[in-house]
Amino acid sequence: MTALLALLVLAFAMVFGNSAADPDLLQDICVADLTAGVKVNGFVCKDAANATAEDFFTAGLAKPGLTNNTFGSLVTAANVLKVPGLNTLGVSLARIDYAPGGINPPHTHPRATEIVFVLEGELDVGFITTANKLISKTIKKGEVFVFPKGLVHFQKNNGKVPAAVIAGFNSQLQGTANIALTLFAATPEVPDHVLTQTFRVGTKDIEKIKSRLAPKA
Ligand SMILES: *[C@@H]1O[C@H](CO)[C@@H](O)[C@H](O)[C@H]1NC(C)=O
Ligand SMILES: *[C@@H]1O[C@H](CO)[C@@H](O)[C@H](O)[C@H]1NC(C)=O
Repeated sequence: MTALLALLVLAFAMVFGNSAADPDLLQDICVADLTAGVKVNGFVCKDAANATAEDFFTAGLAKPGLTNNTFGSLVTAANVLKVPGLNTLGVSLARIDYAPGGINPPHTHPRATEIVFVLEGELDVGFITTANKLISKTIKKGEVFVFPKGLVHFQKNNGKVPAAVIAGFNSQLQGTANIALTLFAATPEVPDHVLTQTFRVGTKDIEKIKSRLAPKA
């Protein structure tokens, strides 16, 4: 019964909805003209006659990214901003590198499900459902894990050697909302009273987190 209901919902979504991923394409190619002044849902297409192989290419994921930063991890994107030929195609990739101890802190992708393939090392990964259930696992080289669209998720390298994954997204530009930075490093700032009431702590605690995440000059 539940399976039948799920099938019906899926069929309904496939027939009537475009909500599972980016909208479907209406032409063979639509290489993004990233410099165009006109803004649409996505990017306007440059003249198809001017498309080249370079529009569909990047070597950006070939080498490990530098992980000597605050969180000890780096996301290197191969999305529409790096590969303009991805415009309207509804897919993209990224490479994420992690130093030993490095974390890709809790965040969400508003427009995509993410599927990661471990290139090297070992990672503790997880996501939290809207019922606040943590689904987590340790994954290693060659293994795959999925983070459903919109749900808060993270990866941490608790190993002694670097780790790396290739991440696939069903969006040309998945978008990322980093929970800590969204709340504690926004410009202008999210007011302290909103955060003290939300986290049930004092202003000093909030200011401390803010100063660590967005040091004032
Ligand atoms: C296409 O390339 C030609 C020749 O370089 C250029 O004159 C034209 O402006 C380009 N068209 C677009 C839409 O970029
Ligand atoms: C990270 O390492 C690179 C290369 O070793 C160096 O150029 C860069 O300045 C370092 N960045 C930080 C924040 O230490």
